[in-house]
Amino acid sequence: MTTTYGGVPSARGAGTAPAADDLSPAERLSVDELRARQLERLQWTLRHAYENVPLYRRKFDDAGVHPDDCRRLEDLAEFPFTTKQDLRDGYPFGMFAVPRRDVRRIHASSGTTGKPTVVGYTEADLDVWAETMARSIHAAGGRPGHTVHISYGYGLFTGGLGAHYGAEKLGCTVVPASGGMTARQVQIIHDFRPEIIMVTPSYMLTLLDEFERQGIDPRTTSLTTGIFGAEPWTEQMRREIEGRMDIHAVDVYGLSEVMGPGVSQECVETKDGLHIWEDHFYPEVVDPIEGHVLPDGRTGELLFTSLTKQALPIIRYRTRDLTALRPGTARPAFRRMDKVTGRSDDMIILRGVNVFPTQIEEIVLGTEGLAPHFQLRLSRKNRMDHMTVLVEALGDTAADRRAAAAADIALRVKDGVGVSVDVEVVDSESLERSVGKIRRVIDERPKD
Ligand code: DLL
Repeated sequence: MTTTYGGVPSARGAGTAPAADDLSPAERLSVDELRARQLERLQWTLRHAYENVPLYRRKFDDAGVHPDDCRRLEDLAEFPFTTKQDLRDGYPFGMFAVPRRDVRRIHASSGTTGKPTVVGYTEADLDVWAETMARSIHAAGGRPGHTVHISYGYGLFTGGLGAHYGAEKLGCTVVPASGGMTARQVQIIHDFRPEIIMVTPSYMLTLLDEFERQGIDPRTTSLTTGIFGAEPWTEQMRREIEGRMDIHAVDVYGLSEVMGPGVSQECVETKDGLHIWEDHFYPEVVDPIEGHVLPDGRTGELLFTSLTKQALPIIRYRTRDLTALRPGTARPAFRRMDKVTGRSDDMIILRGVNVFPTQIEEIVLGTEGLAPHFQLRLSRKNRMDHMTVLVEALGDTAADRRAAAAADIALRVKDGVGVSVDVEVVDSESLERSVGKIRRVIDERPKD
């Protein structure tokens, strides 16, 4: 079934708040209505998890809490956290809360070490996912009748299929390109004339280079909007992509343990952080070390509790993503989260200073005369950790200009981030290109 929304403004109508009749019924809820719906759904979720997943029953019992203790949304803070390790320990299906025959689809995330994390969906879960993803594409400016080119990977990764069913639900025409075969993707975009592209920002850069290689000016394509996510990206990256392509670049966030893409979405009208679809995914932000709940506006680790999921209810899941919650704007009842610029796992500690790859991205992409491709290499010199920033030159930039750019970046990293790094400007096309989630950090430090 196609989700219908009111008017069909152009995808480029940025700057103003959406008209109420252009929103789905859920997006028109008042804060009070939303909170009432959340509480009812939370109480159901806690009971469902407790009654059907032995791990949750054990954890709740150990913490001395029972689903009946949740009388207000704030009571959720008394319940124990769930971590990626819990999912790994239950590998593959130990945390499923429904019989196997009711599971319609399985996804899994590879994980760098150990077993993958396996997640499952009932038919109703898939409907909710398609609905929240459709809402996301709509908030990004997508409308029924638009063509959506999807370059997120299809397969066990949630990106491709998650985006796919959302776009279909909204009434769009889907081009399921998946990742890779970059030259052909560019040709298809040129020939099929999609309005929307959904892809990781790093793979968008790879596609952009390919457009230029094929002699096509990326500013002349039919694309009006890019919906970028699955990895951290910065305002500098937004400027880079919007400038080179003449499109709106908006952020989509999600994770497989909670659902997949479409947990939260930046609205094209405001581009001011991502509205969380709170009627299905309840957010909290906690102190990453102490674990206590932080008030809205404070940065910490994002947690999610699913409110409607049947196959894999997830309670207070520790995402490791760092952000803050803010009041809603374009969708007033739905709180926003700041752009996620780092995961606690991605943080590099260099001589006592915390460094996130996105801090380096801001600086590299803000430097003239360089390509937006960079890599961070960690090594150990004289028992001290050391970082080398490798950045690609733009075309055949002369040696003296490369040296000046390298010195400029090193200075700005020292000033802005507070650490000394080496910077090498390398030849154009010499660094590994992304076809999905990019690997920014190459860790060459000896394992202790
Ligand atoms: O990456 C789901 C997804 C697909 C989201 C396509 C958006 C678009 P996982 O593979 O489970 O799921 O990885 C989830 O990726 O905890 C974040 O660390 C990171 N991440 C996802 N979206 C964003 C974003 C998908 N917009 C993990 N900004 C999350 C920053 C993001 N990080």
